[in-house]
Amino acid sequence: MVQGFSTEPGTHGPITDARRAAMRKVWVWAVIIAVGGFLFGFDTGVISGALLYLAPEFDLSPAMQGGVVSVLLLGAMVGALGIGGIADRLGRRPVLGLEGAVFLAGTALAVSAQNYATLMVARVVLGLAVGSASATVPIYLSEIAPTAIRGRVLTLNQLMITIGILSAYVVNVIFSPAGAWRWMLGMGAIPALVLVAAGLGLVPESARWLLDKGRRDEAKRTIMLVTDEATAERLISAHDAHQHRPVPPQRGETRKSGWAALLSAAVRPALIVGLVLAAVQQFGGINTIIYYAPTIMTQTGLSASNSIVYSIAIGVINLIMAVVAIKLIDKVGRRPLLIISLAGMAISIGMLGASFALGMPPVVTLLFMVVYIAVYSGGLGPIFWTLIGELFPPSARADGSSACTAVNWASNFTVSAAFLPVVTAIGAADTFYIFAGICVFALLFVFRYVPETRNKDYPQIDSSLRQRFHLQTT
Ligand code: GLC
Repeated sequence: MVQGFSTEPGTHGPITDARRAAMRKVWVWAVIIAVGGFLFGFDTGVISGALLYLAPEFDLSPAMQGGVVSVLLLGAMVGALGIGGIADRLGRRPVLGLEGAVFLAGTALAVSAQNYATLMVARVVLGLAVGSASATVPIYLSEIAPTAIRGRVLTLNQLMITIGILSAYVVNVIFSPAGAWRWMLGMGAIPALVLVAAGLGLVPESARWLLDKGRRDEAKRTIMLVTDEATAERLISAHDAHQHRPVPPQRGETRKSGWAALLSAAVRPALIVGLVLAAVQQFGGINTIIYYAPTIMTQTGLSASNSIVYSIAIGVINLIMAVVAIKLIDKVGRRPLLIISLAGMAISIGMLGASFALGMPPVVTLLFMVVYIAVYSGGLGPIFWTLIGELFPPSARADGSSACTAVNWASNFTVSAAFLPVVTAIGAADTFYIFAGICVFALLFVFRYVPETRNKDYPQIDSSLRQRFHLQTT
């Protein structure tokens, strides 16, 4: 129940009925929390279809349309950045509920918008909700998951993101004949209501956060939802023992808190790994395919009418491979999956570039895109979100997740905004070669600096990080 302890009989050891029941509860909570991930995918995916109908209604120029799409990414960056401190102060659960409420407000505004300005405000509000949820969900999941299945529970976030993206495509197809863009956007209210219900008590507060706040009785009651009293007592004493062995400051440093703690030498390796992965997850080019696959396909000479079918195919592969990642992550580990994924991404997006340079048939281009999505979604996609829930010490977890998530959104914004202008300037082939180069850099970085976190408690993760960065171990 509390991350960092792997001996709970409720969730480990021989398969008993009690263990099965406890696991089931953890998974139900995890699915509800990860609705925050669904919202992330839905909201970034739904706009492409809605835009086709709202652009003529409001007479939007291409630049204004770009604004409607990308202003959400900027709002998300701000939301992610701001939420860490709030999640530490208020707790994980109320913050998730709050995010649901902000999302509802943004949806209501978007659905009733009568002009461009209101629409832009609505997209900013939605961005704040999506961004803050994307930083909160990984830490919350990490804190409710027993160590042995933590990877799987955290990977659920990416699975829900991919389900969100696919649902958005499907909603677009359903409401397209009527041109009902307000309905497309309005469908987002359903996941938002689930988050509000989560905040109101549908899931328990993170026991780890309660313990850190000294609310031992509540923490004990929460832990006892999945285990017996004696075990709960033992876990709480084990937590106390960890507390007395906090992340040691480097020589000559005093202990800090908040953003200062994040920048302290002791937490720096985790921050470097998190930030680099946040940037390369986006600069490897993923969302150029997710957002622009139809545009890329039409460049190969294919009809636009087939494009929606291709985006659904890409959405389905994205989802299927996230399921594969869930199955593998706690068995094979994070590092092997990441390494295979990045190598596969470098090759497939390099070949995608070559397919443009050599004028290969559209079906070959589609094939390389599908392979690229598949290897991304089985590795780098989910594992970035998994690692930011795992790498940071509990005291810096919320701020660490905030910082990395904000950089992920900022990079997302940069790549999506620059993609079409760069393709116009240097051509599709060279653009994809640049992405391939970034994947190779990421591969070398992972090889050298990213620790394996499978089946490890935080102190073990910390010591592997220190070894990789040649810092003194404790
Ligand atoms: C990851 C990325 C997100 C992307 C998605 C595609 O979650 O963070 O930007 O759209 O993968 O599956």
